Amino acid sequence: MKTYRVAVLAGDGIGPELVRVTIPILRLASYLYGFELIFEEALVGGTAIEATGKALPPETLEICKRSQAIFFGAVGGKQWESLPPEKQPERAALLPLRKTFSLFANLRPVTCYPELIEASPLKPEIASGVDLLIVRELTGGIYFGQPKGRVLTEQGERAIDTLVYDTSEIERVATVAFEIALRRKKSLTLIDKANVLESSLLWRKTVKEIAKNYPEVELKFMYVDNAAMQLVLKPTQFDVLLCENLFGDILSDEAAGIAGSLGLLASASIGSTKFGLYEPAGGSAPDIAGKGIANPIAQILSGALMFEYSFQEEEAAQAIKDAIRDVLKDGYRTMDIAKGSSTYCTTEEFAEKVAQKLEANFKKK
Ligand code: NAD
Ligand code: IPM
Ligand code: MN
Repeated sequence: MKTYRVAVLAGDGIGPELVRVTIPILRLASYLYGFELIFEEALVGGTAIEATGKALPPETLEICKRSQAIFFGAVGGKQWESLPPEKQPERAALLPLRKTFSLFANLRPVTCYPELIEASPLKPEIASGVDLLIVRELTGGIYFGQPKGRVLTEQGERAIDTLVYDTSEIERVATVAFEIALRRKKSLTLIDKANVLESSLLWRKTVKEIAKNYPEVELKFMYVDNAAMQLVLKPTQFDVLLCENLFGDILSDEAAGIAGSLGLLASASIGSTKFGLYEPAGGSAPDIAGKGIANPIAQILSGALMFEYSFQEEEAAQAIKDAIRDVLKDGYRTMDIAKGSSTYCTTEEFAEKVAQKLEANFKKK
């Protein structure tokens, strides 16, 4: 039987609540669709700082290295905000993981399903039919550029972040975006700030070159400020949005808002091998952690993305997506997306419904 090893890094806040209810769904799917998953849990983030003093302990990295994928919850929280910045969970664990495994392309799909249209803050006629994918560059740009830090000048303290991109970094993520666009609606919009930023000019030049290999894909350009506005005005105009690191971070939370909740936004971080890191785009949500009300959809869908991109188990991935939609069709909702006549569920109840649906749908086949 095909066997896949998965490093499970639940992390902080709602991370462990979401991962705990999702693992049984992934196990069930693997059982139904004929493959085996070996999960190995490891500490990460604030939780790891408390236990070991380090946000990304060497043992965790070892477990990740001997796995074919990382299934990640979330990291961060108020408790660790007073640590030196480079020791905080986000900068000491999540960013190094992305960099170590060279996971340069972050895929964030946003869909407004008919059964969830009332969860969108937009008018139904505007949200209806939204089906877009943000391809965010993940290991470069202002997140990683050097120099970075604080210096004292005669005028006082100065903070420096550097936005830098090499042609090769743009080429590889653009290629991923074009390949995916080919399998979708064949439209790709490069989001940039080419009227101000030198790096954006290099992005435009490089992406135009890559586009020559993909004549079937329509290439458009849009400034990021306009894109932020167009996303709420007419989100259906977008298919694939290719963004540098920071723009992709910001626009993907906005796009999740269009769907109705950050709890719906899954993500896949991939590179040039089958190894990937799969995590909700949202964070540790301290405001709702421990209450059992977080929406598990993004976490479960991140598992489906893992099946698809790291294991090529497309059938199981599709079955998970179908099960979620069917549970939504039946009217079940977590609090963040509950409206009108829907039946309110806790995190755990919603995940159980998904597992039941997965099994029932399989038996019906
Ligand atoms: P957040 O994404 O944690 O939360 C933003 C809002 O979205 C909150 O109101 C939260 O309740 C809601 N939300 C997020 N996920 C949800 C879910 N599954 N169901 C229902 N509602 C959900 O962002 P924040 O509050 O700005 O950051 C909190 C912490 O998380 C910070 O330490 C931040 O650095 C960290 N963070 C981590 C990751 C990650 O680990 N990948 C991502 C983003 C933020
Ligand atoms: C995300 C998060 C991270 C990012 C933070 C926690 C470092 O916001 O995955 O979107 O900015 O990439
Ligand atoms: Mn973010």
